[in-house]
Amino acid sequence: MRVCVVGSGGREHALALALARTAEVVVTPGNPGMRGTPVGGYPISSSEIPPEKVAADLWVIGPEQPLVDGLADQLRAEGKLVFGPGADGARLEGSKAFMKEMLDEARVATARYGAFDEVRAAHDFLRQLPGPWVVKTDGLASGKGVLVTDDIAQAEADIIAKLSGDAFGDAGRRVVVEEGLVGAECSLLVLCDGTRIAALPVAQDYKRLEDDDEGPNTGGMGAWSADGLLDDALVDKILDEAVEPLVAALRRRGINYRGVLYAGLILTADGPKVLEYNVRFGDPETQVVLPRVNEDVTGLLAEAAAGHLRSDPHPTTEAGVCVVMASAGYPTDPRHGDPIEGLDAAGVLAGVTVLHAGTGLDDQGRLVTAGGRVLGVCGTGAGVAEARARAYAGVEVIGWDGVQYRSDIAAGAGPAAGASVGAGALSRGAGDPRP
Ligand code: AMP
Ligand code: GLY
Repeated sequence: MRVCVVGSGGREHALALALARTAEVVVTPGNPGMRGTPVGGYPISSSEIPPEKVAADLWVIGPEQPLVDGLADQLRAEGKLVFGPGADGARLEGSKAFMKEMLDEARVATARYGAFDEVRAAHDFLRQLPGPWVVKTDGLASGKGVLVTDDIAQAEADIIAKLSGDAFGDAGRRVVVEEGLVGAECSLLVLCDGTRIAALPVAQDYKRLEDDDEGPNTGGMGAWSADGLLDDALVDKILDEAVEPLVAALRRRGINYRGVLYAGLILTADGPKVLEYNVRFGDPETQVVLPRVNEDVTGLLAEAAAGHLRSDPHPTTEAGVCVVMASAGYPTDPRHGDPIEGLDAAGVLAGVTVLHAGTGLDDQGRLVTAGGRVLGVCGTGAGVAEARARAYAGVEVIGWDGVQYRSDIAAGAGPAAGASVGAGALSRGAGDPRP
């Protein structure tokens, strides 16, 4: 079996390592870190060849942009076996207004919202909400298009900046304005074959740049996954009330969704609610989730791609922690070209895996920063404390000029606050208020 992974980030490196347990992997375009043969596995290589030209048995599309642009449709039209939704399903992530519409249609609990392309109507709606306030670009913005604020004036200004196109170009010319919800967050990645679903281990990620959840939103600065993050009954409830109904609603619209559904959840005092759906594996959640999947990951993705998901993944009892090391200037203006030191020293540490994201080679062949999130340093261990200690031991020996990372990833990790099955209803009843 040969698998083509499309993408070049830490998520794709994690996918490549998981797939290489049972298949040869070619990542396109990949990066300098995605090569070699993992112990007991098959070879991984990077290639600049476009995905449709790679000889493979299965294609796995990592990032959202090519999915939104219809790459899965294009490959399927050529008769290829593809893991990843077509452009119809990928609209869930390509338009937050569409995603919210689908959640309403499926009667899945989510924040009250309105979608606007005109400032006055957006401001009027905003002022009806109690705060905190949330303003999102409708279109893709690499996880950076969301403002959550206690300051209504800031939310008003943000609406103007987004709708004018100044802040995020065309992605912001429509905005979704939401009530701010409060609670612990977690990410549930669910494989889907168009009808059947199978959940992967739950993870928690850290979106803000700085410790204690300060600073701007980023693509993700770290993640952890371990038994007990959410209890099984709550996961089942979320699958029954937030995922199954969405898949059914997609089917009713004629959308045969074969890929991963990433539910971003918030555990509020009224029960879990869906903050968003993404149409691809989370980054950096994948880096901690896939090592915990006991089964043959290639087999699982191939089954989902073929519309015959039969296997049921079971998590290992190991914990995983991933700390993202980002370049100077991230997230607004990441600096490229800083030489990266210490990878050899990290490579010999037990239970540590360094995943490459924004790395490149300079003209002297040195490994340098070439993106915002540069490396994901991942630790595994018998529990979160051990996994965390290992990840940070890796981080400590790696460095470059201006490196940024959080020191509190998975600190005090335990069951997500409020995560009990009795915490409230996930589905809205027929008589409940609608947004
Ligand atoms: P999204 O891209 O929609 O997941 O938003 C990115 C991050 O913004 C989420 O992970 C939350 O931390 C935060 N966020 C989004 N929507 C809300 C909301 N309605 N209430 C509170 N925080 C939110
Ligand atoms: N970790 C956030 C995301 O993948 O969107």
